[in-house]
Amino acid sequence: MKSALKNKILFAASECAPFAKVGGLADVIGSLPKALKKIGADVSVILPFYGKIKIEKEKTKVLKEKLSIFFDGEKRFFNLHQSFLENSNVPLILVESEKYFEGDIYLTEDASSEGSEKEAERFFFFSKVAIKTAEILNFSIIHCHDWHTGIIPFLAKKNNLKFKTILTIHNLGYQGIYDSKIANRFLGSEFQNDINCLRIALSGADIITTVSPNYAKEILTPEFGFGLEEKIKKRKKDLFGIINGIDEEQFSPKEDSYIAQKYSEKELDLKKENKKFLQKEYFKKVDLSVPIIGVISRLAEQKGFDLIRDSFERLMKKNIQLIILGKGMKEFEDFFQSKNKEYPGKFFAKIGFDENLAHQIYAGADMFLIPSHFEPCGLGQLIAMKYGTIPIARAVGGLKDTIEHKKTGFLFEKPESQELLNAIKDSLSFYRKEKIWKKIQTEGMKQDFSWQNSAQKYLEIYRDLTRV
Ligand code: GLC
Repeated sequence: MKSALKNKILFAASECAPFAKVGGLADVIGSLPKALKKIGADVSVILPFYGKIKIEKEKTKVLKEKLSIFFDGEKRFFNLHQSFLENSNVPLILVESEKYFEGDIYLTEDASSEGSEKEAERFFFFSKVAIKTAEILNFSIIHCHDWHTGIIPFLAKKNNLKFKTILTIHNLGYQGIYDSKIANRFLGSEFQNDINCLRIALSGADIITTVSPNYAKEILTPEFGFGLEEKIKKRKKDLFGIINGIDEEQFSPKEDSYIAQKYSEKELDLKKENKKFLQKEYFKKVDLSVPIIGVISRLAEQKGFDLIRDSFERLMKKNIQLIILGKGMKEFEDFFQSKNKEYPGKFFAKIGFDENLAHQIYAGADMFLIPSHFEPCGLGQLIAMKYGTIPIARAVGGLKDTIEHKKTGFLFEKPESQELLNAIKDSLSFYRKEKIWKKIQTEGMKQDFSWQNSAQKYLEIYRDLTRV
């Protein structure tokens, strides 16, 4: 066995479950470091101490007080608190600053950050604090995630700082683009043109990773590259696609305390109790022969809610029940909310976050729908498969890497509502063949979606980077 990695690694990100979560980014930051720790990496996470984060007093202690950086033309102070990732001994460093981290994570309704000067200020400040922290506490690698921490690799390279940087792209659709005046004011820099945080990170980072092998290929093309494909191509030899895992302890139908009835792949019949529960509770209509399709997602364009909306009336003609949980763009929230009244017994949408209901859907639904336009990895399909809930998904990004058509789920090619309907139709005909259906369910439940293999790949990267 190889010796433990001696170097200290700092994860820098805007989200970390369960403390601050909007999407899958949070799940990764909340779970990958634990898997890395298990295989010998000395890893910590740094996160803004957003006003809305609630941690019991006894779970945090002050690590450093009255530290400062030069920012927005002045010396600005902050404190570091230390806690731990949930159920682990992975240090979580929380940056406290009333001025910069009040309230929620993102300050725009759809988390797109577009044009929000406040958000630029917030994440520029956080990134500079992460650099300072790495210096004080002797980290050798900062592992940055998405545009929010994009100026870290840039500044590290420009100023010849002594730690290495990795950029992991979780979503190329968000790049953090700001007027040069904004950046220059906060950073004291001299940008002539707009600054694009993801673009500059792509130049500065020593290594670039993204969250599935297929997405790593897709982002080299104009269709998925969001204008950065040429830039990424130049870094192709430093680009790796590493598939995300899930915390298999947190998502296990055998041990899930949120669900009505626990079960395993050997007692699949028990899953029906969860379906009954879902039907009774949310549809007020129990009929086990009617398949339930579940959706749990940010209500964003990326996730294909336009396709669900456009096929909605046709979907409602089918003998199914549909349940949607999530929040995001107002246009989708309003649309689905309004359908609640129109289709009682057939459709139910809950706008918001609800951990309880999320687990109940994973356990109680028959199918899980993810019609994304693009999907760097996708975690919902992995969780659904673990619960014997069969994914129906578009064949893109990580969905294509993790779902096998008609073996563990159903895939469709084009982002069109007719294709979506055909895939659902296909799945319904399989649903009626109980034996085959069970086989698909069992096959999915048996897959290894743990972090183990992927954590090993990250560890290799850290090792290579710090080899002298
Ligand atoms: C983003 C991506 C999603 C990925 C997640 C975690 O939310 O859209 O596909 O699974 O990040 O990497």
